[in-house]
Parts: sequence; structure tokens; C-alpha cells
Amino acid sequence: MNNKYINPLIEYLEQNPNGRVVHRWRHYFDIYHRHFSRFRGESITMIEIGIFNGGSLKMWKEYFGPKATIVGVDINPGCKKYEEPGIEIVIGDQADPKFLQALSKQYSKFAVVIDDGGHRMEQQVTTLEELYLSMRDDGVYLCEDTHTSYMPAFGGGHLKADTFIEYSKKLVDQLNAFHVKESESLAPNYFTQATDSIHFYDSVVVIEKKSRAKPDQVVYGNQADFIYVAPSLAGNKP
Ligand SMILES: C[S@@+](CC[C@H](N)C(=O)[O-])C[C@H]1O[C@@H](n2cnc3c(N)ncnc32)[C@H](O)[C@@H]1O
Repeated sequence: MNNKYINPLIEYLEQNPNGRVVHRWRHYFDIYHRHFSRFRGESITMIEIGIFNGGSLKMWKEYFGPKATIVGVDINPGCKKYEEPGIEIVIGDQADPKFLQALSKQYSKFAVVIDDGGHRMEQQVTTLEELYLSMRDDGVYLCEDTHTSYMPAFGGGHLKADTFIEYSKKLVDQLNAFHVKESESLAPNYFTQATDSIHFYDSVVVIEKKSRAKPDQVVYGNQADFIYVAPSLAGNKP
């Protein structure tokens, strides 16, 4: 038996050497499959910002299967020609909140978003802010080529305020906001209540949604030799 793991996206691309160009960093394919595989074969809508030559739209259609609707978004009107059954094309600017709001209305409750558009800071942040709200409660948001947060040509720079990576680091605080005692400085918000996890990879940020209430603790078993006493500012009293 051959146990060699084959990523189905790579398998498709290798089997279609004469297909439309798909240009990605090699390590992205395992990230996609790790986070998207549960939607395969389902009747989902996915939105990909950034069409270019249309190659990735066909890849997603093949990956998610015949019940999926793949929506490609690009600022270039020439991309409209990549429309075909199962692939819809919307032309617009991902940095324009009004356009994104109209897109959200048109395709409400999409399961997957991939931002592979212009990769500039304001584009990535605006797209996340507008589309995240309208995704399914169990949706997955993926922004790629986030290394542009370190590249001045895209508006990035190490530790520069307002890059997509700096914005995402603040989301880590927001994810943990249920535990912040000084609630004036960081209170739970929609993101806290709607987000299960944030994954940072080289050049990719993935955010997985899940409706959450304030976390509670559970204890199993009834035998213990030691009792945990949480630190307290007023001394070590429980
Ligand atoms: C990296 S390419 C997309 C590649 C494609 N996903 C693939 O794998 O074949 C980036 C695309 O983003 C589009 N783009 C750039 N700025 C944009 C914007 N403000 N709004 C929407 N699309 C934009 C470009 O026209 C280009 O087609």
C-alpha cells in the first residue's frame, strides 16, 4: 500500500499542466487543505479576491466539488470572461467598503474567503473587516501573501502601524478579551464572540469562525492531592 500523502490541490494542478496559470508559494497548499477540507463536497459559497488568469478559480471548483459556488472578485473588468457554470465573477475594488457590503449582500453566508488580491495593507484590512461579518458562523477567512506587511512597496514595514500583520496581532488580544479584567481597555466584541482561532503561518493568516460565549471551565474526576490557587493581586488568596 502506498501511504504517500498527496495534497488534492497539487494533484489536480499536476494533472492539468496545460491549464490556466496558478502561481502560489509551495507551502500554501497544505494550509488550504488543512483548513478547507471539511467543506469539500458541500453546497458552499467561497469568495476569492484576485482572479488574474482565472487559474485558481478552476482549481477551487475542482477541489470543493460540483455543489460549490466559486465567486471570483477582481478590479480588472477583463476577468469577467472567466465566468462559467459554478464560477461567478464580480468586478470591483476590494478596498471599497461599499463594494464589499454589496458583495456580502449578494452572497450572504459564504463559507470561505481567500484574499489573494492587491496585497496592500488597506485592501487586506478593509476586506477582512467587511467580509468577516457576513460569513457563515463556521466559516474560514484566509489572507495570503501577508509578507507584504514587511514590504514598503505595499505599505508595509516591520512593526509599522496599520500593516495587516500588526492589525492581526491586535486580533489575538480581541480573541482573548473574555479574560481581560480591565474591560475598559479591551472588551469582548463581535470578533471575540464569533472567532474560534487565528493561525499565523509564513505569509498566511487564517481565521476560523465559531459562535462563542464566555468560556467556562469543567472538572472531571474527584481525586486530587493538590488544589490550584490562582494568583491574586491581594496576596495568594483564592
Ligand atoms: C496575485 S493575483 C491573483 C492570482 C490568482 N488568485 C491565481 O492564483 O491565479 C492578484 C489579482 O488581484 C487583483 N487586484 C489588485 N488590486 C485589486 C483590488 N483593489 N480589488 C480587487 N482586485 C484587485 C489584480 O487585478 C490581480 O488579478
